[in-house]
Amino acid sequence: MIKVAFYDAKAYDKPSFEQYGKSNDVQFRFLETKLNEDTAELARGCDAVCVFVNDDVNENVISKLYDLGVKLIALRSAGYNNVDVRAAFGKIHVVHVPAYSPYAVAEHAMALLLTSVRRIHKAYNRTREFNFSLSGLTGFDLHGKTAGVVGTGRIGRIFIDICRGFGMKVVAYDRFPAEDSGIDYVPLDELLKRSDVISLHCPLTEDTRHLIDAKAIGKMKKGVVIVNTSRGGLIDAEALLEGIKDRKVGAACLDVYEEEADIFFEDRSGHILDDDLLSRLISMPNVIVTSHQGFLTEEALNNIAETTVNNIRSYFDNDGICDNELCYRCGNIERCKKERKEKCF
Ligand code: NAI
Repeated sequence: MIKVAFYDAKAYDKPSFEQYGKSNDVQFRFLETKLNEDTAELARGCDAVCVFVNDDVNENVISKLYDLGVKLIALRSAGYNNVDVRAAFGKIHVVHVPAYSPYAVAEHAMALLLTSVRRIHKAYNRTREFNFSLSGLTGFDLHGKTAGVVGTGRIGRIFIDICRGFGMKVVAYDRFPAEDSGIDYVPLDELLKRSDVISLHCPLTEDTRHLIDAKAIGKMKKGVVIVNTSRGGLIDAEALLEGIKDRKVGAACLDVYEEEADIFFEDRSGHILDDDLLSRLISMPNVIVTSHQGFLTEEALNNIAETTVNNIRSYFDNDGICDNELCYRCGNIERCKKERKEKCF
């Protein structure tokens, strides 16, 4: 029996994970708390921990888990910026779910964009109060506008297809452009200057932190719509707020926020929100915030649970070899052992 401490468990997680773990070879200990230095101890007696995007798997946490005998960190997400993979190397193996439904996130990005440009969020509230006035609801056509897509991986490419379906022109920026993809790659500065809509689909790394800052916003078109379904840290939220106040940014659609870890995924209604920046952004009529729900479709939840349980089984039943293992050497042709179908260490 493989015992797994399942941190930051939510009501929507349990049905799918219980279903895929039901053959009783994997037993989950569902914990509502997030993983951090204070809660690592709760994994005592477990072979693995299963973590999500706002669990803080830093060097100290890894060291504590290692001392407890935990062998595997199984991320139930694609992004892994919250795990210090360098610190984990040589101690605990890390696996993730590289793709579960890129459609879920790309479709959510377009849902946010359409809601924003057609003022659906405002119309919904009005008609519920039998206010049928159209005043202030004028939007604009997406057809013929230019979408700038930053990051053309699994999600970015689907978002590009969706935009093309709407008759939009698409330009893209990626540090590693895909060859023969038919995508019109341009330098980032050009993308910022030309785009009516900018949608972020690259990972959060040292290079991409605050990719959208005051300088970048300064280069954008007046009235630009910024969509971020990737990671909050890609945007300097203070600079975004200034851009909105200056009327430079026409609208922002945010599924992620840099300081979301202690706020998102919880019911905070009835409480006073300490984060003034988020409160101010939410108070803006042209800002839509969703609480990191891009992934939240039935298809994605099932795929996440199935892949995570298979990752765990593969690691413990297959001599530690798992295709979805991650380490700081990943992709480094000479040093990456995974490329050679071996364990990372
Ligand atoms: P992916 O790995 O398939 O694609 C990422 C792309 O970004 C790649 O083409 C890569 O070359 C590019 N990239 C890397 N560094 C870059 C840089 N410095 N500048 C520009 N481009 C760069 O990832 P995928 O599956 O498309 O996911 C994208 C992001 O979406 C994830 O990193 C994650 O943060 C976020 N995400 C958000 C979810 C949500 O619920 N809101 C759910 C799943 C993922």
